[in-house]
Amino acid sequence: MSILITNIKELLQVRETKIKNVKGAEMQILPTLKNAYLLIDNDTIVDYGSMRYLNGLDAETVIDASNKLVLPTWCDSHTHIVYSGQREQEFVDRINGLSYEEIANRGGGILNSAKKLQNTSEENLYIQSVSRIKEVMKLGTGAIEIKSGYGLTTEAELKMLRVIKRIKNNFPIKVKSTFLAAHALPLDYKNNKQGFIDLIINNMLPKVAEEQLANYIDVFCEKGYFNLDDTEQILKAASKYHLMPKIHVNQFNAFGGIKVAVKHHALSVDHLEELNPEDIDALMGSSTIPVALPTCSYFLSIPYTPARQLIDAGLPLALASDYNPGSTPSGNMNFVLSTACIKMKMTPEEAINAATINGAYAMGIENEYGSITKGKKANLIITKEIPSYNFIPYAFGSNLIDQVIINGDRI
Ligand code: NIG
Ligand code: FE
Repeated sequence: MSILITNIKELLQVRETKIKNVKGAEMQILPTLKNAYLLIDNDTIVDYGSMRYLNGLDAETVIDASNKLVLPTWCDSHTHIVYSGQREQEFVDRINGLSYEEIANRGGGILNSAKKLQNTSEENLYIQSVSRIKEVMKLGTGAIEIKSGYGLTTEAELKMLRVIKRIKNNFPIKVKSTFLAAHALPLDYKNNKQGFIDLIINNMLPKVAEEQLANYIDVFCEKGYFNLDDTEQILKAASKYHLMPKIHVNQFNAFGGIKVAVKHHALSVDHLEELNPEDIDALMGSSTIPVALPTCSYFLSIPYTPARQLIDAGLPLALASDYNPGSTPSGNMNFVLSTACIKMKMTPEEAINAATINGAYAMGIENEYGSITKGKKANLIITKEIPSYNFIPYAFGSNLIDQVIINGDRI
């Protein structure tokens, strides 16, 4: 199946050669081609160029993109979309004055989701999750990372990871999975945290590795959850199974987690709403990418990740949704970009780079996704008729997408 897109007003994120990520001042540059065409063969971008050079190219399907922009689909490198039920009551509780921490301490939060998930069949969990996958594909997400962490028992964690694997096998969207059993301490282990860590290391990890259910390891490194020593134990154990870390860190407190993550060659450190100068020092010169989750800050009314500090220090930055029932019940990446521009003072160029090529890097898939490059997967957003790419973050809340193509399929 071949598709030719013609008369593209502006083709965004055009990279002639493959790059790993963009950092610092480079993030300000978004390479584009005006009045362009793009040719897809099966699942691959095989050609693109200026309309002047179209020269008799043809395809089974031709899409006229006059007045429309074309860009790579979003690469959402941090989500928890496999979950059961919702937590809208906690949302109301927060409006009425309770904090995220107070709700968690009353048995709400992650433990609330874990209880629901443990009592849900794998089939039902799959059905609930598939509806969210379809939702985000329509919103332009073409690659996604999904975490476990609402199981908290061996059985329920494996159930989550198997659901992620089924999604991986059944949908054109690219999926990477992350094992996050160290997300919260289950009630059975309330006074025995080391017992739970031992369960993760000695019982869960070998099974996850045996069934090849995860690409990455994650830990919620946070006061009241898992400390630096707990985090190190889990990262060390996971490295024996070649699971690179992508960790939740510095969401509410900064106490050295980033340094530990970098030491263990983390692919990404995610959240970073709280940040010390030492955290930036730890990231400098490393291959670990920081990931900001602005719609989590928006929803919880917590500080935003200081994007300017990170980028101005010369670091790369990725943007992701954190789609989950507690802190971010939305997987709308367009709204993530808007929030990053409005609240974190990122420019549209920086935000688009952060949500495409840098998001791909934060999932280890930058060789195949995240830019318009010959040989990469045909994952594209065709916008409605819009004046410029600045309009994408500007028109927050509007759906600007005309069509989404994932792996060469029109969604
Ligand atoms: O990334 N911070 C930890 N995990 C999730 C929220 C989990 C929940 O509240 O269900 C997050 O924000
Ligand atoms: Fe998260």
